[in-house]
Amino acid sequence: YSSGTSYTTLPSVLLIGPSGAGKTALLTLFERGPLAQQEKPTVSGPVARTHTSQVASAVELAVSTDNGTPTSYRVDLDAAGAAARRFLLVDTPGHPKLRGAAIAHLASATPTVNLSPSNTSASSSTETSKSKLKALIFLVDAAALADSDSDALASTASYLYDALLALQKRFHRRSGSRAPASVPVLVAANKLDLFTALPAALVKSQLEAELGRIRKTRSKGLLDSGVGADDVVGAAAGEEGEWLGDHGSDKFRFEQMMEFDVEVEVMGGNVVGDGPGAEKWWKWIGERV
Ligand code: GTP
Ligand code: MG
Repeated sequence: YSSGTSYTTLPSVLLIGPSGAGKTALLTLFERGPLAQQEKPTVSGPVARTHTSQVASAVELAVSTDNGTPTSYRVDLDAAGAAARRFLLVDTPGHPKLRGAAIAHLASATPTVNLSPSNTSASSSTETSKSKLKALIFLVDAAALADSDSDALASTASYLYDALLALQKRFHRRSGSRAPASVPVLVAANKLDLFTALPAALVKSQLEAELGRIRKTRSKGLLDSGVGADDVVGAAAGEEGEWLGDHGSDKFRFEQMMEFDVEVEVMGGNVVGDGPGAEKWWKWIGERV
């Protein structure tokens, strides 16, 4: 890509979530959006053929707004000549051993995504570029969550816990008097084309319940590990505690993250097959880049 676009200054949207949730499939859908214009609204075939990601990769996308409303990802912006906002969508590997880098991006007070040129289809430079993080999409496999025999709920929630906690912690990490710019979170319940998938409202409530369990277990874990009870209270109450959300609350709710300037929304959709599609997610992105 060498059209002179000021690539390094483009903001980015980070795509995270467990392995198999459909992150690479979603990125591919958005990337090919204009090409799929003539096809059925939901894309199947090539998009469905993905493989487990091992490194982060980014594609450059553009969203146009029409009277303030982001237009479809299928609109070919170049052809339309529309004033578009360009951004990078950054796909990350969901394997538990490869999540650290994504979490590290979120923890930094000035959230930036470091992109090495080899991982970036859009870059022709040889330098690592830094991009300002504008939003986080946490993709969930809503069909896997419905399977109570698997550990999908526990492992998905534990990744989400780490991501939200990183954003909560950075809220307190000011440079000077300014709090870091907030990073809104979209929990995207994917695979709603499958009849076994949990609807978005249930994905939300099950994740909230599990996140609540995790924060209790983690604070108890501190007790069990021989850390004094006073230290635990101190740690949980302190700015850098491991307790996610409202300290006084018994149940965890996503709304509690507003206390730390973190907006969390849960929306259902699908990348493959027939269902609500990915248009709502695209609009969410468009309103935030
Ligand atoms: P990692 O790279 O391992 O982190 O996984 P990923 O999140 O990138 O998952 P990927 O995009 O590779 O998708 C995993 C599988 O789910 C693929 O076979 C996709 O075709 C499939 N998939 C993705 N989205 C949907 C969907 O909306 N519905 C259905 N039925 N399958 C989907
Ligand atoms: Mg992938």
